[in-house]
Amino acid sequence: MNNSIKVLFATAELNPIAKVGGLADVAGALPPILHELGVDIRVVMPKYGIIDENKYPCKKIHSDIDVTIDNNTEKIDIYETKIPDTEVIVYLIDNHKYLGQNGVYFDKTAFVDSIGEVHRFLFFSKAILPIFSSLNWYPDVLHCQDWHVGILPALLNLEETKQPELEKIKTLFTVHNLANQGSWEKSEILDFLGLSDDNIPSLAVNPKDINLIQQGIMNADLINTVSRTYAKEILTPEYGEGLEGDLAKRKDVLFGIVNGIDQKRFNPSTDPDIAANFSLQNIDQKMVNKKDIQKICGLKVDEKIPLLGIITRLTNQKGIELVADSAETIVKAGGQLILLGTGADNYEKMMTELQAKYPENVHAHIAFDAVLAQKIYAGSDVFLMPSRFEPCGLGQLIAMRYGTLPIVRATGGLKDTVPDYNPDDHTGTGFVFDEYTSASFVKSVKRALDVYKNDPDNWNKLVKSALEYDSSWDTAAKEYLELYKKLIK
Ligand code: GLC
Repeated sequence: MNNSIKVLFATAELNPIAKVGGLADVAGALPPILHELGVDIRVVMPKYGIIDENKYPCKKIHSDIDVTIDNNTEKIDIYETKIPDTEVIVYLIDNHKYLGQNGVYFDKTAFVDSIGEVHRFLFFSKAILPIFSSLNWYPDVLHCQDWHVGILPALLNLEETKQPELEKIKTLFTVHNLANQGSWEKSEILDFLGLSDDNIPSLAVNPKDINLIQQGIMNADLINTVSRTYAKEILTPEYGEGLEGDLAKRKDVLFGIVNGIDQKRFNPSTDPDIAANFSLQNIDQKMVNKKDIQKICGLKVDEKIPLLGIITRLTNQKGIELVADSAETIVKAGGQLILLGTGADNYEKMMTELQAKYPENVHAHIAFDAVLAQKIYAGSDVFLMPSRFEPCGLGQLIAMRYGTLPIVRATGGLKDTVPDYNPDDHTGTGFVFDEYTSASFVKSVKRALDVYKNDPDNWNKLVKSALEYDSSWDTAAKEYLELYKKLIK
């Protein structure tokens, strides 16, 4: 790999070592494919206390590197592991005070709610630049994910004046979710970093706060987000989360690359967590999974009953209200609904109330449970994803991979990845609706249930098309490689 492009992929999460949401799936799956394409890509992440070192053995490779923070000198150690079953090196930065305690994020919604979390990721960002000289490895591209490392391009620009070896490093900033911005009071951030407004011009854009995702957007050499449609949507006030102006200024360097999924991990023909493996050749085995999940959830076991599933973080993004409003329609049609997720209290309550109202037809499981999730993907007929906005979305891709037809709103990555059912030629792999209203969503639920009940042949045709859908990382990885090449040209 002597002449290959060197990339350091900086992330707060990585599946399976420390997983919260979709970011972890991307971090665990994209670097290995880029590595196969010949990129010398390595990952850097915090060494959280929750990492299970029996499962993921980590070796200490450097100790006592100084990081100046909050008017003090903190020490970090660097550990090394690999993304399981791959050759991709992961560097874990260890510092008990800032990185070692608690889980990945401090709140179960994964949205910032305390200065402790802001400190954690500012510290992580600051700790990345001093590691290169210890490693004797300088990346060509620093690929930064989300607000957690949004300050990194700016810190790099500043540090280049002191460490000339850093001058050649270019930055790519990937926005996985513009809604989660990492914003905090300016004076607290500046004091912690030991900086003032004058050090970095972009820090002066807001009078009161520093918005870390905005910093990434303003300072990175190139920016991308995780679908083509979302890359356009975020230029509008409806989806721009207040940053549409900053994004518009950088429109020429803003790209959209649609995520894939790890097709080895999400594979109905080998998945160890589901009751019966299946593929195009033995689709009938999908029914074994359906009956299994019906039984687990205490619902009537009957393969003819349409079974709708939803697996999600319970946040304002995900359209939980629409799902609640559709329950009556589903119940009236004799269908069943299984919900799995955790998050905001009001939505957890909404889900529990649905189950209380329709105990025969609705099962709400308030938890994060990766094994149960696989069983729901495999056993459901329909997967619901009526998001208000969706940068890419992984649930719809996993669902299709398991022959479960998604009902999605035409936004972001949902729009880019789910071809709508066309009743004329019976093509498509799911059902798509436009407006974010209960009426519009319920209409699409009825449309799906109608095909399910009255046109089983064409339903099966859709299931086959979903199973055949290519959601691999191959295309996306090539597009990332093109961006890396553009950066170092
Ligand atoms: C965030 C987005 C989701 C995307 C994921 C990975 O979780 O909300 O749409 O799929 O990041 O990029």
